[in-house]
Amino acid sequence: QTNSEKIYKGLAGVVADHTAVSKVNPESNSLLYRGYPVQQLAAQLSFEEVALLLWTGELPTQEEKDEFIALERSHRALDSRVKAAIDLLPLDAHPMDVGRTAVSVLGANHPQSGDSSPEVELRKAKELFAAFPAVVAYDQRRRRKQEVVEPRDDLDYSQNFLWMTFGEEAPEEVVDAFRVSMVLYAEHSFNASTFTARVVTSTLSDLHSAVTAAIGALKGPLHGGANEAVMHTFEEIGIDKDETREEAAARAKTWMEQALAEKRKVMGFGHRVYKSGDSRVPTMKQALDAMVEYYGRGELMGLYDGLEAAMGEAKNILPNLDYPAGPTYHLMGFDTEMFTPLFIAARITGWTAHIQEQRADNSLIRPLSAYSGPDERSL
Ligand code: SDX
Repeated sequence: QTNSEKIYKGLAGVVADHTAVSKVNPESNSLLYRGYPVQQLAAQLSFEEVALLLWTGELPTQEEKDEFIALERSHRALDSRVKAAIDLLPLDAHPMDVGRTAVSVLGANHPQSGDSSPEVELRKAKELFAAFPAVVAYDQRRRRKQEVVEPRDDLDYSQNFLWMTFGEEAPEEVVDAFRVSMVLYAEHSFNASTFTARVVTSTLSDLHSAVTAAIGALKGPLHGGANEAVMHTFEEIGIDKDETREEAAARAKTWMEQALAEKRKVMGFGHRVYKSGDSRVPTMKQALDAMVEYYGRGELMGLYDGLEAAMGEAKNILPNLDYPAGPTYHLMGFDTEMFTPLFIAARITGWTAHIQEQRADNSLIRPLSAYSGPDERSL
């Protein structure tokens, strides 16, 4: 313990370690995955290719892609032990608890659970990447009393994710918006859930324990849970399909002014690192615009515009990625509580890339604290 004067609450502004996985640059409002701007990756690569880039540090060769896709397709089906564990949970259990349970069951059952060598950890990461969509799909379908939809090998990751969830082939506009959301959600340096994964890894614990812990951190509404909270805000304001975009915007503006007057924290806005906007928002907003256009839901964009305008005027606080992501997933047909599990599916790539990096150059993560309790005293 130390009496060091300076406390870095929330570790704000503290550079805890190096990372080569991604660079978040608030000055230029940019984000690079292994040196590539995320906007280019979202425009040009599949989520499978971005996953390989994050894990290996380089764009995959065709051979590496083919090998990974074969492995991914062979691990898509819902594991019967995971299904049995989920079936023990109430139908209204939070889907983040379902996701956390699923990863824990996969870890405890893994034949190489005790092996954290680089090649085994990379394989575990790839298996988790492949297996998680079926967990999200199963949970949404069981909540709706729908039967399990088996994966299809003729569909890519995003197409199959939507196929298993909705039991029908999604239109390419929807698949592309979904793929963009996965790429944008994949990685973001030392955010709370990724740092959690690194802390667990730093004790030389295993990958599934680190990912399970990261899911616990992501669930919170100050972090990944914000995308679900954004939709609850829209639901609280009320969605009226017959409303014009302008009418909806006016109602949303009034709601935000009232919420801020009550000192409420409105999720989807603000960021610990980005202070002049989240670099990913314009790209995610384009995906939302495409979904609003495709489904003809101008009134939903009205709510979006109204809240954003009011928060900007009142506090000059800008949207973060969760803000456009929430309504996009709503338009695709996902239940609101499934939004943050979608964030898990994407962030499994970033978490496991950081787990590899931490293990490769490890030091136990153990900060100091300044004692503020009673002076020494005797019984
Ligand atoms: C993600 O770190 C990452 O990279 C995370 C992430 C990733 O990809 O991994 O980007 C994903 O988690 C995005 C963030 C999602 N969270 C939310 O949308 C929750 C709402 N946002 C806030 O809670 C807040 O902006 C944080 C937690 C994200 C960051 O907060 P900070 O840096 O700790 O700043 P703060 O909370 O102290 O806010 C500074 C001021 C405060 O006003 P005062 O109390 O000083 O008067 O701004 C206000 C806050 O009240 N403020 C908000 C607000 N965000 C900040 N007021 C109302 N609503 C908000 N959303």
